[in-house]
Amino acid sequence: MSEDKDIKNEDSKTRHAEEAPAPITDSPDDKSKEPEKGDAPQQETAEVATPNDEKTGSRKTRTAQADSDSTKAEKAPTKKKTVEKATSKTGAPKKKAVEKAVSKKEPSKKTEETDAAKTEPARTEESPETAASEAVPVSSPPVHFESKDEIGFVVFDTPGKPVNIFNESMLRTLSEILDELLLNTEIKALLFLSAKPGNFVAGADIAMIRDITDVEKGKEGAEIGHAIFGKIAALPYPTCAVIDGVCLGGGLELSLACTYRIARNTAATKIGLPEVQLGIIPGWGGTQRLPRLIGIQKALDLILTGKRIDAKRAYRMGLVDQIIPDEFPEGYTREAALKFTSEMLTAAGKARILKRREKKNLQTVLLEKNALGRKVLFNQARKKTSKASKGHYPSPLKALEAVEKGMNTDLRSGLEIEAKLLGECIVSTVCKNLIHVFLLMEANKKDTGSAAFEGDVQTFKKVGVLGAGIMGGGIAQVLAYNGISVRMKDLNWQAVGAGLKQASKIFTAAAKRRKLKPAEAKKKFGLISGAVDFSGFESSDMVIEAIVENQDVKKKAFAELDGIVQKDALLVSNTSSLSVTEMAAATSRPEQVAGLHFFNPVHKMPLVEIIQGKSSSARTIASLLAFSRKIGKTPIVVKDSAGFLVNRILSPYMNEAALLLQEGQKMDHIDQVLRAFGMPMGPLQLFDEVGIDVAHKVSGILEHAFGDRVKASPVIEKMFEAGRLGKKGGAGFYKYKGRDGKPDAKVYELLKGIRTAGQEMAPSIIEERCIYLMINEAARCLEDGVVRQPGDIDVGMIFGTGFPPFRGGLLHYADSIGLDKIAHSLDQYAAQFGDRFKPADKIIEMAKAGSGFYNSPAPNHS
Ligand code: NAI
Repeated sequence: MSEDKDIKNEDSKTRHAEEAPAPITDSPDDKSKEPEKGDAPQQETAEVATPNDEKTGSRKTRTAQADSDSTKAEKAPTKKKTVEKATSKTGAPKKKAVEKAVSKKEPSKKTEETDAAKTEPARTEESPETAASEAVPVSSPPVHFESKDEIGFVVFDTPGKPVNIFNESMLRTLSEILDELLLNTEIKALLFLSAKPGNFVAGADIAMIRDITDVEKGKEGAEIGHAIFGKIAALPYPTCAVIDGVCLGGGLELSLACTYRIARNTAATKIGLPEVQLGIIPGWGGTQRLPRLIGIQKALDLILTGKRIDAKRAYRMGLVDQIIPDEFPEGYTREAALKFTSEMLTAAGKARILKRREKKNLQTVLLEKNALGRKVLFNQARKKTSKASKGHYPSPLKALEAVEKGMNTDLRSGLEIEAKLLGECIVSTVCKNLIHVFLLMEANKKDTGSAAFEGDVQTFKKVGVLGAGIMGGGIAQVLAYNGISVRMKDLNWQAVGAGLKQASKIFTAAAKRRKLKPAEAKKKFGLISGAVDFSGFESSDMVIEAIVENQDVKKKAFAELDGIVQKDALLVSNTSSLSVTEMAAATSRPEQVAGLHFFNPVHKMPLVEIIQGKSSSARTIASLLAFSRKIGKTPIVVKDSAGFLVNRILSPYMNEAALLLQEGQKMDHIDQVLRAFGMPMGPLQLFDEVGIDVAHKVSGILEHAFGDRVKASPVIEKMFEAGRLGKKGGAGFYKYKGRDGKPDAKVYELLKGIRTAGQEMAPSIIEERCIYLMINEAARCLEDGVVRQPGDIDVGMIFGTGFPPFRGGLLHYADSIGLDKIAHSLDQYAAQFGDRFKPADKIIEMAKAGSGFYNSPAPNHS
């Protein structure tokens, strides 16, 4: 077989990102957000000034009101005091504890404990399962108080975890500490810090969000957060969040309740409110305090997209008041925070910070403070958000509503609105589906390929790429982007030059879009060198083969490479259809051979299928999983079998669209139905993207492996014969002018002999015929052991084809419909349209047992 391309949606990641809140993934794009050149803030040095009233005066009322959001709601509450001699968490000399909550809304500690366990409207980057099940030793609280020289420190340190999360015990302890601090007259400023390197607070326990099914409970969850953070805002002395690392969701909302925020400028510092990516809204004050602090437009940009920003950008936005430069050692953070504190305790220091915030706000005042201007702004944002979410993702619009209504009232009422809207979002199916995807991703990140694998994975600093074509050039670029040295070999210099040019083009575009600084792009590109012989390959840690799709040529290349590269090196193939087991047999190291199936375009497509050959060792697979993550990809392990996973499942779906066209359905009707379902493009458009020639070839391979079940529609043959190869040729099912295309009426002419007349079919039937066939094939993949678990299929289809995340993944969607209903429909379609619809055994079993993909017994693969 000659060169091949994948049947997939090349554009899925880009489109996905544009259209809707994306699932959380570390793509190279995410990693490269660099601030504009020349925009770096000047490091502001603390001025020495005379102490203001905060130092010397009354501390009964809040003195450092630099926050623009201070309202009645945040004034120091009426407190009932109880003296508790030995149990003070703050160590305040008078050992006082507060019995009563801050606001009348705040529940008793007992209620808070119960409710907080179920209701947190933010996210964490840590697996909630592990976080939730964590047993907290009494001796090791998740957050503690300490003080030195009249400065208090609240230090987050979730025991036994690499990240801090707001779980039940963290919230309860924090609340108790704050109760005591409200009465502490010994300290004059309070800093919130983390004891964990690279992490401030990653957000709330996802399991709590997942488990809420009652609107009222969701609202109460928001109110618990409001009450706790309200205590911070009500403290009678200035407070500062010292952000050194990940500060997301609830972590940022806590910071917003502080008087000041400073952030360490390292790659680990990511600041944001990613709640919409989980189908909820920031519900602990994010939709209210953020726009009050930085302005509506800038706040919407963060809230509606869930994007994470670095410390410098946060500083430029006015979200943080000072930056701690990354040149300083880790331990310096506390010292820098103390220096900042001594400054903010002076009148001049405080004035400087206030002045900077005012100056930042001045730019937005004209539009945002004027009612008409605000209306225009919100209308535009609503239009843009509706267009992007296409009605599939309700939470960005709810967040917008919370901000808009909140900006027309005081903070207290705004928080009430926020709580109500959070309650509505948290029970939605979309929220639960997005959480399902999030949890799949968490599990995926921990997958080592086999439970049996123990030990160290191999690392790869220098990689050889054989073949400098479309895929070789793209792979080289992604590796170099991630700091890996690449040696790329092809048959002649012209081909090598083309590969280098392709990589260079992607780097240049990244620099143009300010994803990389030009110098950085140049430096990274410099990591790729070219050759027409194997010089340099002998020292490679791995070679990725991306030459023509021909088994004999590949086997010859593998045998040759085996004699050249060092004995520990891996040899992997980017093949899209050939057996890697056969390639392995041509070498003396079959256990170190596997497939690494990238999708085109490599820099955009997040999925990598790791093809496990019969002899690939557990270490080889674990090493490739770690490597794929290192280069920003989402890997799944797939058995060495025809079509691997993604192409095998996608092929019947696309073929069904061709058959529908053959039965007389109109092209735009078919595509429109599947777009409305949530696919990033219609299946006929997808044919054009992939190339009809490629689809023709892949369907041949699958038909050879699986017989009539996947027999291609004659429509494809006709299109192929007519040379309508798709987008690359300017015409396929669509006619293209520039990037965009429209269904081409000439196709109906071309298909006259084979196309029957038909009435417009109900969208639900078109949708079911296409989607249920994918589900059926996915069930067969599980039966055949192509992947180990349903989650791999959902991850594969979302990240490899753009299957809509708001549906939770293909098999999660199937479960939500019910396997009995799917089996019944498949039977009906089989009777009407042919045997290809016959339900897979696994589907029949699940339908009988009343189970689903996610709650049926694990497959028993021999
Ligand atoms: P391509 O035709 O663009 O590039 C292949 C390159 O390999 C050519 O430059 C050719 O000169 C070179 N080559 C051939 N034999 C060679 C040898 N013995 N030593 C060194 N170089 C040699 O092909 P493309 O599209 O990059 O595909 C490469 C591989 O990636 C194939 O196995 C294909 O199935 C697979 N693949 C392709 C995808 C696509 O969408 N293009 C997607 C995923 C996998």
